[in-house]
Amino acid sequence: MYLEPINFVAMKENQIQIHYNIYKWEELSESYKNLMDLSIAAQQNAYAPYSNFQVGAAILLEDGTIFTGNNQENAAYPSGLCAERVAIFACSAQHPNIKIKVIAICANSEKIDINTVLAPCGSCRQSMYEYESKQNTPIKVLLKGVDNEVVEFLSVADLLPLAFQCDGLKKVR
Ligand code: THU
Repeated sequence: MYLEPINFVAMKENQIQIHYNIYKWEELSESYKNLMDLSIAAQQNAYAPYSNFQVGAAILLEDGTIFTGNNQENAAYPSGLCAERVAIFACSAQHPNIKIKVIAICANSEKIDINTVLAPCGSCRQSMYEYESKQNTPIKVLLKGVDNEVVEFLSVADLLPLAFQCDGLKKVR
């Protein structure tokens, strides 16, 4: 079926800008380097026999506690889970009331040539956004790029413009 394009002028046009910073590894603070290194160590323990794509995440809480996670795959593919959610769910399960400051994420594969920064999947963005909203404080996201670069987002909201949120869902009917 061919649909005619809408040919009237929109009442209003909006644009959304997102911000991120790019650092060279040497420019990172020691705590950022440490967190990135821990995400790389976690990535090396990923269980990814089906995709051969290993992802690691390391989360820094405001009290200094660090949680790591990696992707966990399953022969029944949809039963697996991404690294970011493995880490952030464990974090929330054990420290539900300590704020999350930073999450560092990296990916690697011995079989696939990765020459781009790993941007988290939509489900992980939505999950991270939930905890950012809950704690009412931005969570920084660090992504390991290529050529020793690290990309920093100052909040998950920058990774998920127009995020789904519905406070009404919490109300008891
Ligand atoms: N994966 C992650 O762990 N995080 C992401 O943000 C994207 C994808 C995992 C899921 C699966 O085990 C593999 O990477 C290939 O999609």
